[in-house]
This record gives sequence, structure tokens and C-alpha cells, in this order.
Amino acid sequence: MCGIIGFTGRAAALPVLLSGLRRMEYRGYDSAGVAVVSAGGIQCRRAVGKVSALDAALAADPVDASATCGIGHTRWATHGAPAVRNAHPHLSPDGRVAVVHNGIIDNYAALREGIKSRGGVFRSETDSEALAHLIREKLDDAGSLIEATCRALQNVEGTYGIAVVCTDAPDEIVVARKGSPVVIGTADGASFVASDAAALAGRTQSVTFLDDGDAALLKPGSFEIRSISAGAAVVRPATPLDFAPGAVEKGGFEHFMLKEIFEQPEALENCLRGRLLSEDGTAKLSGLHLDAREIASLSGIVVTACGTSYYAGLHGAYAFEQFAGIPARIEQAAEFRYRNPIVAPDTALVSLSQSGETADTLAAVREAKRKGALVLSICNVVGSTIAREAGRGIYLHAGPEIGVASTKAFLCQVAALGMMALLFGRTRRLSCEDGRAIVSALEALPDLVRAVLSQNDKIAAIAEKYAGARDAFFIGRGYQYPAALEGALKLKEISYLHAEGYHAAELKHGPIALLDENVPVVALVPQGPGHDKTLGNIQECRARNAPVVAIATEGDSAVEAFTADVVRVPPCPEFTAAVPVVVAEQLFAYHVARLRGEPIDQPRNLAKSVTVE
Ligand code: F6R
Repeated sequence: MCGIIGFTGRAAALPVLLSGLRRMEYRGYDSAGVAVVSAGGIQCRRAVGKVSALDAALAADPVDASATCGIGHTRWATHGAPAVRNAHPHLSPDGRVAVVHNGIIDNYAALREGIKSRGGVFRSETDSEALAHLIREKLDDAGSLIEATCRALQNVEGTYGIAVVCTDAPDEIVVARKGSPVVIGTADGASFVASDAAALAGRTQSVTFLDDGDAALLKPGSFEIRSISAGAAVVRPATPLDFAPGAVEKGGFEHFMLKEIFEQPEALENCLRGRLLSEDGTAKLSGLHLDAREIASLSGIVVTACGTSYYAGLHGAYAFEQFAGIPARIEQAAEFRYRNPIVAPDTALVSLSQSGETADTLAAVREAKRKGALVLSICNVVGSTIAREAGRGIYLHAGPEIGVASTKAFLCQVAALGMMALLFGRTRRLSCEDGRAIVSALEALPDLVRAVLSQNDKIAAIAEKYAGARDAFFIGRGYQYPAALEGALKLKEISYLHAEGYHAAELKHGPIALLDENVPVVALVPQGPGHDKTLGNIQECRARNAPVVAIATEGDSAVEAFTADVVRVPPCPEFTAAVPVVVAEQLFAYHVARLRGEPIDQPRNLAKSVTVE
């Protein structure tokens, strides 16, 4: 998804812009560009493809290397194909204003017609170019870039995070936000803007998130925030930027995804830290701001999310029913927002999002609020829109997730939902003893993950046998059903192998027709209530000659009758077994994709943060 970076200070702007763009490469994009401002005017270079293509464009046609102010952008096409003319920054026709934009301008067609009728000529098919024209049109009357920008934005419907530079004030950047994140910060006489705090890691100690309706004027080392519509000064709190040095680098791993898979024990420790109360057998989740009376009066829970977060949510819905006895269902966020769902009184909507910016999940949050639900969020990115709009919620503390395929966020979502279900359960019907058993199971999660990570080489060897397949199935029951869905998603998104996750019992209701000796089945069969029945399903697969990879509990020899390709998970309660199982699936998918030579951290057509519907 699109990324914005901007810098104004005393040092050269270009290296800061390019390194910021690289930090945001993980978001997925199809073109990139920069514009620097100096006495000679605005110089802009853009390229289709990766930031390395932009490097080449800059080498062929350099910009003023001494310029100390500029903006940059990575674009993920929405209006207009990936092409140099559609890449950002966009300039006003006279070159006085340059704009980068994230989001979608809903009334862009009407704006374009209006601009054209006033003599404006467009050079791209984007909605964003209209912003450069509009700001330029307002500039002379407004008297300042920030005033011109705010006046222009009064005519704009849709979503935006923007950064604007102008030749009139070569050391100023104006930024504004409505529905698309903008974060600003200062350090040592310099000011920065980005759409993603990760781009500012190591550059500033703290950041300030703009709210919807805010604009800000950045000068070297300082900024002022104001309301776009009212013009009044606004103060927003600063948030410490707590990325560890190297958190957005690969740290010796071949890919971010592998690094993040191996970071999972630590991510889980951070997620659980200080939240489990062993003695009382419960959890403390202060961010929910729920008292016992509110929890006791809940009549239902709707969990909503997209993609991997949805599968974690399905796991959580099972836990809410098992531990708290509250009817719980999972609903795809895109479905929830449009199908006008019934939200009974005393319903909690639990929204899950790694990025906290997913458009459908955000819309579901807003719809649930309109319908009077108690809205809670579980997000990873601190200060993200969903976290802020939900108001009540908890953070995963998983650290930045850079690889496009979600890994550590899934595990931490399962843990966070488990803690929430435990808290709700202990407030309602769960005994202290049962609560303590769940606390112990949650505390054991990091070690369960370590036990699977130690089998990385073995999983790579198994992956080698199946890397040439075209189709695969993942099957499981109970808590292993969401794990099967997640395993298939991981494999398909990074290896481009067609994979489907199925409930093990559902296989015989259709998909079994596809099985033969070329279609591997990954069977999730750790000890638990579904174990014996899933063994029966494995037998059905073997009878169709489908090769089987089993993920089973240490010491369980039953699976060996069907396959030698077995990944072992330590013994653990049914409720936590999906965590080590999913780690085995992540490594399997990773190695299949690696062996197939695919670009694991930036799979084709995918974006890290899906801020369009
Ligand atoms: C898959 C993946 C996506 C995301 C989905 C929701 O590996 O990463 O399916 O889970 O786009 O994203 P968030 O959690 O940021 O709302």
C-alpha cells in the first residue's frame, strides 16, 4: 500500500527520503518517486518498480543533492495503471507545488472536470493529481501553503494522507490527514513526516500521530498542527517510538518473514508480559476499560477482521465460547459492514487488525459503533486508526511486522484473544483452578514455538519434497480448523501454489474428488478431541494416494502408519495447540516459496496494509 516520507532540515534530503522509502518497501507498491525543493525549484523523479529503479532514474538524471527539503512516495495503484506518469509526487502545471497522497479521492471526477473547465491540464489518470492543481489554484489568494492546502481540502471528499511542498517556501512541508495515517516527528533541527512510524525508526525518539481533520506545517526542527476546517491550533500527544535498533532490518536472516517467524517466542513474551495473573487465574487487560459488571452483562461477541486476522478471530471465537460461555461468532469485516447485521444489545464487537488500518475492518468498527455495540480492538500498530477509533482495546506488542505475510501478529492475536476469553471467563463462570490452567497454557506458548523452530531444517527437507506440487490441502478440526485455513493462506500467498484449508470432516463433501498422488494433504492432528477422527480422514486421503504431511504431538506414533513426513509439536492443551502447529505451517510455506524462488517478503499483487475496500 502507498507510503509517504518527507524531510526538512539542514542535511541533504535525498538520502533520508530514499532510506525512508526502503523502510516502507514491505508495504507492497508498484512505483516510487521523490521531489526535492531548492532555490532552483522543485525537481521530481519517478520510476515504475522498486526503489532500486528510482535509484537508477536518479543516477541517470540527478536532482540537486544539496536540497534539504523534499517528499517521497511509494504507490500501489488504485486509479490509473502503474506507470511513471501516475507515480507520485504530482506537480501543479507550473511546477510550483508537488504533492504525495495516500488514500482515495471519491469526488475526483467532479474535481477534474472543474479544474479542466478552468483551463487545467492533467498529465496522469490519478485522483491525486487533482490535489496539486487545487492547492496551486488557492495559493495566491491564501497567502501561505498551509492555508492554500486547507482551503483546497475543503472541496475534497474521500480519504487522504498528504505531504505538500512548494517553491514559495523551500524549507516547508505541509501535511494533512483524513482517513489515511500521517505521523510526524522532529530531531536535531530536522522534521520528518511518514505514513508509517517504521519509516522514522532511528531518526526520531518520538512521533505525533495526526488525527482526521488535522493539517500541520513542518519547518526544520519544528511543527505546528491546526484544524483543516477551523484553522485553530491543535495539540496532539507525542508517542515514544519504541522500535528497537534493527527492528526494521533483516538481522542476518534471508527474509523478513523468516526473521519474524523466529522472533515469535519473544513477540509472544512481550504480548503476554504483565497481563497474566497466575494466583487469581485470570488476565489483566487495562486497555479494555471494562468493569466486571459490563463483562457479566455481555450477551454475545462478534469478532471481525480480514485475512489472517480473521482466522485468528475464528480461533478466538471458539475460546470465548469455551472459557466464558458467551455466544460468539466471527464475521468477515467486509460482510459485517455491508449486510446490515443485527447487533443485539450488550454485544461486544472485537476487531482484530495487525496494521490497524484495514479499510473493511475500520468500516466494521464504525458500523458496530453506529449500532450501539461495545467496540474493542486488538491491534499491533500503536496509534493506528482502528485502535484509536475503537477507543478501548489492547495492543499485541509483537513489534513491527515487515514481511507482507502475517506471522507473529497471528500468534499474538491468538494469545491476546485467549487472554480476553480468560478474563471474560473468570468474570463469569470459570473456576480459579481452570483459570490457572489456562494461564499456565498461555505462559507455555513461547516454549511451544521454540520447539517447532528447532525443527526448521527438517521442515525445509519436507518442503523440498512438495515444492513442485500445484495444489495442496490443509485439514483440521476444532481449534485446528482455523489453523488449517491459515496454513493454506500462508502457502498460497507466498508460494503461489493453490492451497485450500478445509475442516477435516468436510473434505469428503466435495474436495476429496481432487485428491491423487500429486496433491499433498497437510493434516493437523495434535492430541485433542479431534485427533482420532482426523486420523480417519488421513486414511481417506491415503486411500486416494494423496501424500500426507502430518503435524502431530511428540510421541504420537499413530500417524507414522500413514506418513514419514511428520513435524512434532510438544504436548499441550487443545486450546494452545494451534500456535505451534501454525509455526510449522509458516516454515513449510516459507521453504516451499524459497525453493520456488518467489519474492517472499513482497508477494505479487499483495500489500501489507489494505486501506482500500
Ligand atoms: C496474510 C495477511 C493478510 C492480513 C489482512 C488483514 O498473511 O497478512 O491476510 O491478515 O490483510 O490485515 P490486518 O491484520 O492488518 O488488518
